[in-house]
Amino acid sequence: MTKRSFPKGFLWGAATAAHQVEGGLINDWTAWEQANAKVLAALAETRFGGLPNWPQIKAEATKPANYLSGPAADFRHRYPADIKLMVKLGLNAFRFSIDWSRLEPQPGRYDEAEFSYYRDLIKQLHSAGVEPLLTLWHWPLPQWLVDQGGWHSRSILGHWQRFVIKVIKELGAGITYWLTLNEPDGWAGNAYLLKTWPPQGPRRYLPRVLRQLVKAHRLAYSQIKQNFPEAQVGLAKSVVYFEPVDRKLRNRLYKRLVTWLVNYRFLNQTHEYLDFIGVNYYFHNRLDFRWRDFKQMWRGNFGSHNRNQQISDMGWELYPRGLAPLLAELNKYRKPLIITEHGLADASDQHRGWYIKESLSSVAKAIAAGADVRGYLHWSLIDNFEWDKGFWPRFGLAEVDFRTQQRRLRPSAFIYAQIIKSAKAG
Ligand code: FCB
Repeated sequence: MTKRSFPKGFLWGAATAAHQVEGGLINDWTAWEQANAKVLAALAETRFGGLPNWPQIKAEATKPANYLSGPAADFRHRYPADIKLMVKLGLNAFRFSIDWSRLEPQPGRYDEAEFSYYRDLIKQLHSAGVEPLLTLWHWPLPQWLVDQGGWHSRSILGHWQRFVIKVIKELGAGITYWLTLNEPDGWAGNAYLLKTWPPQGPRRYLPRVLRQLVKAHRLAYSQIKQNFPEAQVGLAKSVVYFEPVDRKLRNRLYKRLVTWLVNYRFLNQTHEYLDFIGVNYYFHNRLDFRWRDFKQMWRGNFGSHNRNQQISDMGWELYPRGLAPLLAELNKYRKPLIITEHGLADASDQHRGWYIKESLSSVAKAIAAGADVRGYLHWSLIDNFEWDKGFWPRFGLAEVDFRTQQRRLRPSAFIYAQIIKSAKAG
C-alpha cells in the first residue's frame, strides 16, 4: 500500500449502531432481551460451546445479564470523549445510527431533547473534522410500531415517511452521507426466516417485509434528495464473497445463484435509488453443490467448506483477500462503494491488526483494478452489544470495561492509525 493506493478525500472511519452503543433505550429489542435473556444464557453452551475460546467466554456467555443491552457502552453520554478517540486515530469519518424509539417514543410525539443530542453529536463530529454518516434504521423499532405489526404491517410506511421527514428537517442540514437501512434483507432473514431475532414473525410474511423494506428505502431516498439534492444516499448491504470449491459447472452455477440471492437481489431492486453502495463484509464461503448443503444454507449455515485458517472469537472465518474480488463484482453497478462495516470479534486483539492491514491491501487492489471505493469504516469504534450474542464478542478498536465504561485503545487501533497516516501523507 502506498499513499497513492487510496483516492484523495477517502473516508477513513469506524462504524457503530445506536442500540449497540448508546444505552438506556426502550424498544422492541430491549423487550425481546428482557423476555429471552435467561433462555439465551441457558443455550450458550449449545450455541458457543464448540468455539475454541469457549473456556474464555463461558463465564460471560452463560450469564443472563450478558444478553441485556442496558447501558451498553453509554455512548449517549460519552460521545464527546469517543470523538476524541477518533481524532487520536486520525479518523475523518464516523458512521452511527439514530434510534427511532428514542426520537418518537409515542406515535407522532417527538422527543426534542433527543433530537438535540443527535444534533450535538453531528456538530461535534464536524468540529473535530470527522464526516458523519447517518443510518436511519439499524434494526430496533419503537414498541408501539411493533404492536401494530412492525415491518409486516401495512401502516409502517406512513409512519416511516413521517419519521424520515422529521429527521431530515431536524438533522439534515448537518449530513451529507446517509444510509437508509442497515442490512435490510439480512435482518429480515434472521427475523422472519431463521427467527433468531425479534420480532420472530411468521415465515409467510417474509416476502412482504422485503417488499416494504425496498419501498422504505426508495421513499427515504426520494425525500432526502428532494430536500438536499447534493446529499449522498446509500444503504448498507451485507455481502458475502462466494467462491466455488472447483471449476465444475454445477459449482460455478451454484455460486451465481447464491450470489444473486444474497448479494444482488435487494440491490437490483434499489440500485436506481442509490448514490453509493454501502458494503458490509464479514463472510467468505466456498461452495460445493450438494443437496445437504443447500438445505443447510436455508438454516443460515454456510461455510462448511471453508479452510478457516484464521477465525474470529465468534468462529467466523477471517478472509481479507475476499474483499478485492468482491468489490470487483459489485463494480458491475457502476456506483461508488463505501465499506460501511468490516471487522471481527477479537478480545485479545491477536488478529485485528493483521486483518485491517490485509483487508486494506485488498481494497487497494480493487481500487487499482477500477473499483470506485470511497471509504472504509471499521466495525467498530468501541466494544458493544452484539445483538443476540450480547457483550462477549469484542469488536472495538477501543476496548470497553463495561463495569466502569473506561475505554482503552487496542494496539491494533494504532496499526490502523498508522495506515491512515501514511495514506494521507504527502
Ligand atoms: C453486522 C451488523 C452490525 C454488527 C456486525 C458485527 O451484521 O450490521 O450491527 O453487529 O454485524
